[in-house]
Amino acid sequence: MSNDPLLQPYQLKHLTLRNRIIVTAHEPAYPEDGLPKERYRAYTVERAKGGVAMTMTAGSAAVSKDSPPVFNNLLAYKDEIVPWIREMTDAVHEEGAAIMIQLTHLGRRTRWDKGEWLPVVAPSHHREASHRAFPKKIEDWDIERIIKDFADAAERMKAGGMDGVELEAYGHLIDQFASPLTNELDGPYGGSLDNRMRFCFDVLKAIRARVGDDFILGVRYTADECLPGGTGKEEGLEISKRLKQSGLIDYLNVIRGHIDTDAGLTDVIPIQGMANSPHLDFAGEIRAATNFPTFHAAKIPDVATARHAIASGKVDMVGMTRAHMTDPHIVRKIIEKREEDIRPCVGANYCLDRIYQGGAAYCIHNAATGRELTMPHSIAKADRRKKVVVIGAGPAGLEAARVAGERGHEVVVFEAANDPGGQIRLTAQSERRREMISIIDWRMSQCEKLGVTFHFNSWAEAGTVQAENPDVVIIATGGLPHTEVLSKGNELVVSAWDIISGDVKPGTNVLIFDDAGDHAGLQAAEFIAKAGGKVEIMTPDRSFAPEVMAMNLVPYMRSLQKLDVTFTVTYRLEAVEKSGNELVAHVGSDYGGIAKQRTFDQIVINHGTIPLDDLYFELKPASSNLGEVLHDQLIAGRPQTAWRNADGKFQLFRIGDAIAARNTHAAIYDALRLVKDI
Ligand SMILES: Cc1cc2nc3c(=O)[nH]c(=O)nc-3n(C[C@H](O)[C@H](O)[C@H](O)COP(=O)(O)O)c2cc1C
Ligand code: SF4
Repeated sequence: MSNDPLLQPYQLKHLTLRNRIIVTAHEPAYPEDGLPKERYRAYTVERAKGGVAMTMTAGSAAVSKDSPPVFNNLLAYKDEIVPWIREMTDAVHEEGAAIMIQLTHLGRRTRWDKGEWLPVVAPSHHREASHRAFPKKIEDWDIERIIKDFADAAERMKAGGMDGVELEAYGHLIDQFASPLTNELDGPYGGSLDNRMRFCFDVLKAIRARVGDDFILGVRYTADECLPGGTGKEEGLEISKRLKQSGLIDYLNVIRGHIDTDAGLTDVIPIQGMANSPHLDFAGEIRAATNFPTFHAAKIPDVATARHAIASGKVDMVGMTRAHMTDPHIVRKIIEKREEDIRPCVGANYCLDRIYQGGAAYCIHNAATGRELTMPHSIAKADRRKKVVVIGAGPAGLEAARVAGERGHEVVVFEAANDPGGQIRLTAQSERRREMISIIDWRMSQCEKLGVTFHFNSWAEAGTVQAENPDVVIIATGGLPHTEVLSKGNELVVSAWDIISGDVKPGTNVLIFDDAGDHAGLQAAEFIAKAGGKVEIMTPDRSFAPEVMAMNLVPYMRSLQKLDVTFTVTYRLEAVEKSGNELVAHVGSDYGGIAKQRTFDQIVINHGTIPLDDLYFELKPASSNLGEVLHDQLIAGRPQTAWRNADGKFQLFRIGDAIAARNTHAAIYDALRLVKDI
C-alpha cells in the first residue's frame, strides 16, 4: 500500500473514505427543473471514476420555496428529486466514492423575483449587496417552517441513498442568524451567542431526529467573518467547539471570510494571482482547538499543497474542488504516479463567474467539464493514423495538436512567433494573471509526450502546408486587434494589445474606449495607471467590462480604484482629431443628443480582434470540404464528411479567433469538439 498521506483511507464514523481528497460543495448550475438529471449525474460520476474519496454534490440545494435558486440550484424541497438522487448515488457508489449533498436556506442571499416570487427572509432587514433583495424580518412561523423543511429535505436525501448531508452556514440563513451583523431579532433567536446559534442547533436536532445516527451530518461554516462587528475568530472558535460538543455532527468544514460582496466571495474562493491555501493554517487552528474531523478547501490547486495539508495534520480531508473541474482524474493520476499529467487549475474562476452570467459552470481550459455526455475527458485513439497540420500555437492550436496527438495522428504545428501561447502570452504579462500560462505549458508538455512536431518562428504559407501532404489542416491563427471603429482618426489611436505587449509607451492622460468589455481593456488600464498615467475607461454599454464578470473584476477594482482610474458608461467615442500635441476625442452617446469634445494625449481602443484568415482563404480552394463545417455533425460528435471539391487533397478547418473574436474557453472547445472526431 502506498505511504502517500493523500492516499490513506479515513474513517468518518461508519463511513470509510478511500483517500483524503474530496470535492467540496459546488453547484455547477447543471440541474434541469431543479433536478440532477443525466448531465448532472455524468459530471458527478466522472469525478468518482477519477478516484476522489467523496463528492459533495450540489452546492446549496434549497430546502424551502422561499430560498429560490440563484444559480440554478437543486431543489431539495421537491419529492420528485428522490429517484434522481438515487440514480446518482448508486452510480457514484459503484465507482467506490462516497457522496453527500449540501443543503441550505439562502435567507437574504437570493432574490424575490425568482421561483415562486415569495418574500426573501432574514433575521434583519439588511440587504445583501450581491443579490440586492431587501429581506422581510423572519417571524416565528417562518422559523418553524424552515426547520421542518430542513428535516424533510434531509430525509429525502437519505431516501435517495446519500451518505450524509452538510449544512451551508456561511452567508446563508443559518449564519445570518449566527452573525451579529445580520441578526436583529430579540430572543429566543437573537442577542446572545446562545440565542444566535439556536436556529443552527434546532435545525441540526430536527435533522438528526429524522435521519438517525447512521447518517453523516456536517456543517460548513465561517469561523471568522473577517468583518468589523461580525463573528470574529474568538467567537468562531467558540462556535466550532459548541458544534463539536453538541454531539449532533460528524465533522467541521471550515471557511474563513464572508460572501455578501463579490470582493468577500473572492477572498473565500481566491482567484488567480491571490495566494494559494490562504486559510489552511486557520483551518489547522480550528482542528487543533477542537480535535474533531476537519475538512477545508480554498485554493489548494496542486497535489503538493494538498499533501502538505494532510501530512501537516492541519486538516483530515482536503478539498480540491476547482482542481477537479479542471481535471476529474487527479487521484487516479496520483496513484499511477503521473502527477505531471494533471491538467492544472489556473484559478481563472471562469467556472464560478459563469454560473451567474452564463448559466452553467465551464472550466476555462477543460471543455469536457459539464459536457461529459458529449465531450470526453480521455481521448480515444482513431482507427486510422492521419497527418494533421495545425497553424498557430495559441490555446486553440495547442488543444487541436494535443487532441490530434491523443488520437494517434502525426501532428505538425507551425507558429509564427518564437514561443507558443498566442493571446495567453499577452494575458500572462500581468503579474496577477501569470497562472494562465499553465494552460499553454501543460499542453506543450502533453504534446511533447505525444511526439507532436513544432516549427516556431515559422510563417506558414499555403505551399509550406501543402508540402506536408496533410490529410487535415487546422487554421488556428487567431486574430489581430480591431481598432478601425471611428468615423475619423483611426490612425491616431493604439490598441490595448499595443500597451500590454509594451510595443507602445503608456501616455500620461489616456482615454481607453472599451466596447469589447473583456480583460484586455482593464489590463491596459492597469499598465498605464501603474506607469503613472491618468486613465479614463469609456464604454457605450450600461456597465464597464461586462465580459470580465463578477469575481474576475475584483482584483482589477482593487488595483484600479487605488490608481484613481475613472469609469464612464453609456458614452461612445466617435472620432479623434489631432490638435497640436493633443488628441481631441469626439464623444457621443447611443441614446442620442450628446456631442462632447475631450482632450487626451493617448487614446486606446479595445474592440476585440479581426481574424487572421489569409492562409485559410488561400488554402480553401485546394481543400476537399472548401472549409465547410457541418454543424449537425459537429454538435452530434460525428466525423465531418462535407465533400465539395473532388480535387481537394485535405480537409480544412478553422478554429478559435481565426473565425471570430471570442474567448479562451471557446477556442479550446472549438478544438476539442472538432478534433476528437478526426
Ligand atoms: C461553480 C462553483 C460553485 C460553488 N458553489 C458552492 C456552494 O453552493 N456551496 C459551497 O459551500 N461552496 C460552493 N463553492 C465553493 C467550493 O466548495 C470551494 O470552497 C471553492 O471552490 C474553493 O475550493 P477550491 O479552491 O478547491 O476550488 C462553489 C465553487 C464553484 C467553483
Ligand atoms: S475555470 Fe479556472 S478556476 Fe475554474 S476550474 Fe477551470 S482553471 Fe480552475
